[in-house]
Amino acid sequence: MAAGDFHQRSFDEGTLTKLRIFELYAREWLPVFLSRAKPPRREIHLFDFFAGPGMDSAGHLGSPLRLLKQLKECQHLAGWSHVHVSAHFFDASASKIKHLKGNLQSPEYHVPSVALDVRPIEFHAALKDSAPILANRHAAKLVFIDQCGVDQVTPDVFRQLVGSPTCDFLFFISSSTLHRFRDHPAIKQKISRPEDHYHVHRAVLAFYRALLPERSEYYLAPFSIRKGANVYGLIFGSAHPLGMDKFLQVAWKADEINGEADFDINRENIRPGEMLLALDEFRPSKVTAFERELEQLLRSGSLKTELDVVRVCFDYGVTRQHAKPVLAKLKSENVIAADFHVPQIDKLEAPRRIRFKQ
Ligand SMILES: C[S@@+](CC[C@H](N)C(=O)[O-])C[C@H]1O[C@@H](n2cnc3c(N)ncnc32)[C@H](O)[C@@H]1O
Repeated sequence: MAAGDFHQRSFDEGTLTKLRIFELYAREWLPVFLSRAKPPRREIHLFDFFAGPGMDSAGHLGSPLRLLKQLKECQHLAGWSHVHVSAHFFDASASKIKHLKGNLQSPEYHVPSVALDVRPIEFHAALKDSAPILANRHAAKLVFIDQCGVDQVTPDVFRQLVGSPTCDFLFFISSSTLHRFRDHPAIKQKISRPEDHYHVHRAVLAFYRALLPERSEYYLAPFSIRKGANVYGLIFGSAHPLGMDKFLQVAWKADEINGEADFDINRENIRPGEMLLALDEFRPSKVTAFERELEQLLRSGSLKTELDVVRVCFDYGVTRQHAKPVLAKLKSENVIAADFHVPQIDKLEAPRRIRFKQ
């Protein structure tokens, strides 16, 4: 869809899902930096590089107004008065920024003490401008890249983002990128049906994973959204396992069938609540693949602690709760013993052990 007419219609379901995920994630992210009286960072910066005018033609809120709504909810938190909060809303279109500035006049979106930086500026120029903030170790950053059409997250942009300290980002994979991947000979071989997007998304994620520095502890996860006949993807990145954990909880809340898509990955048009078969008989391929791998790793004795299990969950983009049935099965078969049902993320310093019994 051309960027020009995007806001002159009502957002479609796919766009609303994407915006909901972004908003839910911001709602989880903000208290991490604002809830304690002694906050971990003295500054936080929210970047929306493709902000748009703030609303669609039907009055659905766009990303910048959703961010402000969530910031408003945080004003009572203990750290609020101790942290400088800045919101950077950029867009290449001067008329969209003018419109956005108009929407920001509404008292509903006025959040006292938040510094607003609202400018008509093209993405790459804006990124260059923002480089000192992105590189600032004392500032936490949340970056939303809601590009349309041309793919703006080049390898250099990606490296800049993953190299920025305390920077979580969410970017939208444009359909042109997906098409580019779909046409790649290595991917073509794996796709049995042209509408099969599963491998394309895996390939996109693998492409970005390969750009990470060696032995990097950076976490990436995909989430795909169907928009009409097309499927678009989100990529989430975080240097902290807690960030990844929160994102996966949010993403799976938006989609009870499969954390990687808001449509059924088995390519039937079945949505949560409309299932004809029990979920067990209708396992999404992603969950099945995860369970198989986890079981095999546990049986071979190569996972020593709950943290090792969490890492496998992240690799597959599933929540920690997804490990529960496999752990229970192998405990009941006396293959392993462990004091936990679901691996926890708050035990990073002292993860509980898994004892191998065979
Ligand atoms: C998908 S829309 C973003 C929607 C917005 N996040 C919202 O929730 O309403 C993409 C926006 O990117 C802007 N845009 C297109 N190319 C751009 C570029 N190179 N740099 C910055 N903004 C751009 C368009 O004007 C459009 O408003």
